Parts: sequence; structure tokens; C-alpha cells
Amino acid sequence: MSRAGFSAFVCLFFAGCFCCSKAMPSKLNQETFNNRPVIGILTQIVSDDIMKPFGSTYIPASYVKYIESGGSRVMPIRLTHTTDEYENIFRQINGLLLIGGAANLETSDFARVAKIFYRLALKANDAGDFFPIWGTCMGMQQLTVLVAGENLLTNTTAENIALPLNLTAEASTSKMFEGFPSEFMKVLTQEPLTGNFHHYGLTVKTFQENEKLQSFFSILSTNVAENGAHFVSTIEGKRYPFYGTQWHPEVNRFQWDRKRNFPHSAHAVQLSSLLAQFFVEEGRRSLHQFDNPEEEASSLIYNYTPVYAANFTGYEQLYFF
Ligand SMILES: *[C@@H]1O[C@H](CO)[C@@H](O)[C@H](O)[C@H]1NC(C)=O
Ligand SMILES: *[C@@H]1O[C@H](CO)[C@@H](O)[C@H](O)[C@H]1NC(C)=O
Ligand SMILES: *[C@@H]1O[C@H](CO)[C@@H](O)[C@H](O)[C@H]1NC(C)=O
Repeated sequence: MSRAGFSAFVCLFFAGCFCCSKAMPSKLNQETFNNRPVIGILTQIVSDDIMKPFGSTYIPASYVKYIESGGSRVMPIRLTHTTDEYENIFRQINGLLLIGGAANLETSDFARVAKIFYRLALKANDAGDFFPIWGTCMGMQQLTVLVAGENLLTNTTAENIALPLNLTAEASTSKMFEGFPSEFMKVLTQEPLTGNFHHYGLTVKTFQENEKLQSFFSILSTNVAENGAHFVSTIEGKRYPFYGTQWHPEVNRFQWDRKRNFPHSAHAVQLSSLLAQFFVEEGRRSLHQFDNPEEEASSLIYNYTPVYAANFTGYEQLYFF
């Protein structure tokens, strides 16, 4: 959906208020913001044997802290609900984060639930009901499978390596990087601020040859894999507020395993902060809400306690569900 579409919706909303409140006219053309956003995070399927005793799905605490750092609360979303239940959750949350992991992108429960939210978000945005989605690593891969209607991923291994971004011309007019200082855009292309931990991805060639991907997303950056393949590393929806990074913005501030190349420089921290703030700001444009404070309170991540996991995984803390 377009910004104009959203404004039209808001204008109608205020026009409605105007009839019964004469104090409103100065706000006629302003957007309404939701300053108590809740971003949903789909739980990820446990595939590591060592994690299995704790639960069947999990969310690394790094993603939760990342979203919280932008000024949002987090609702964990299990993979075991019915479609009706997901429709109800959709009406309550203000954005969705699809995280990294290892699951089948067409047949897994993760894929099934991601597809339900993806379709709801398309429909909502088309109707002027703003709803952002962000996919990180496998989450971005999942978005490309949903848009293309098929899995087009190939070997683009970039495992445990921090890279500078090869920004495209479209990055300079993107929404994702709109608020970035111009000197910082240059830093992005020079310093290795993006942590890559993936085996598969979309090559630039595959992307450009696919009509659906090409018309849906703009490529904001590319990188080169270990096998020399140029892969798409950052994308943004042209009409929809859907974003994807093949790299991991959350690790820059919230993961510390010494065996991994997590970027922790001041610039790396700044990048992670700017993107968390950007995505939560998108969430503030969603006016979805819970029916009552009790339902909201019982749905939030605060009801769960993360497990210390640095001695058996690469993560410091994990939430299990
Ligand atoms: C950067 O991307 C351009 C295309 O946008 C490509 O021609 C160039 O080879 C890439 N450079 C690197 C270092 O990846
Ligand atoms: C992908 O390519 C890299 C580098 O050529 C190779 O080491 C790796 O085994 C390949 N991985 C898969 C899953 O094919
Ligand atoms: C990790 O440390 C916790 C205590 O902090 C301990 O209870 C647990 O057994 C350890 N796990 C492994 C796999 O070593």
C-alpha cells in the first residue's frame, strides 16, 4: 500500500471524529501514531538435538532485545494455532518479525504460519491498514519464497563473516535507509558491519530474472558469497512495508560468542540501533490493538524467562516454547 492510501484512511478517521469534536480540525491531515506497539515474533523450530530437552520451538533473546531497543514490546507467536487464532493475533499486533533458523520454507509449520500472516498483511495494507513485516536471514528467505511462490534459493554460503554492504542506487531513495545520516551510508559500504551466517540465498541473477520478486521488492544491497555468487543482502517492498536482510542486525548488540564474527564496533552498534528504531517506527503506524489490557499482558514475552544458553549454543539466552 502507499503512504497516500494510509493518509486517506487516517483522514477519514479524523473526519469521523470531527463531526462530534470541534477541537480536532488542526489534526485533519496528520497521521495517527500508536506509541504502545507490540511486534510479533514467530517462534522458530528447534532442530538442534542439544536444545530439544527445553522445548519444541524457541526465540533467541537477541531478537527480543533488538525489538525492545526500538521502543516496542514483543509477543511470541507459537506455530500451533489455528488460522482463526492467527487472524485474531493479527488484529492485536503492529508488525511481524520472521527470524533466522533452519526450517523447510515450503512445508514446515514456520512456513505455514508465515504464509498466513503474509496474506493477512497483504490484504490489510491493500485496505489502508498499515502492517510491516521484517525477515532476517531465513526470515528474509521465507519472504522471497512467499512472494515468488517457489523456493529459488541456491548456495550463497557466507558463514561467519562480517561484510560491508554493496549498496545499490535504490538504497539512497529507500525507506529503510531514509533516516540514516549520509556519512553513515558511506560507512556502511566501507566497514564490515553486517554479520552473515547463511548457506543459502538468492543470487542477484535469480532475483532479476524472476518477475514476481522483481516487481515486489527493490534490492538495496548485494554481497559476494564464498563461491563467488553475488547474492541479494537487503530488500525492501516497493508497495508494501516488508523488509529483509540476509544478514543479522540483532547480533551487533546482543550476541557475544567469541567464535563468531559478530560486529561490535560503535558503527556496528549504530547500524543495529537505527534499524531497530526504523522497524518499530513502522510498527507505530499500525493501529491494531488487543481487546483489553489483561489479554495484552498475558500475551507478551514478559511472561517467559529466557534460559542461559551460552554454554551449549552460540546464543547467550534463548526463550523456549
Ligand atoms: C556491487 O554491485 C554491482 C551491481 O550493483 C556489481 O556490478 C559489483 O560487481 C558489486 N561489487 C562488489 C564488490 O560486490
Ligand atoms: C556451497 O559452496 C561452498 C563454497 O564453494 C562450499 O564449500 C559448500 O560446501 C557449498 N555448500 C552447499 C550446501 O552446497
Ligand atoms: C549450562 O550452564 C547451566 C548453569 O548456568 C547448567 O545448569 C547447565 O547444565 C549447563 N549446560 C551444559 C550443556 O553444560
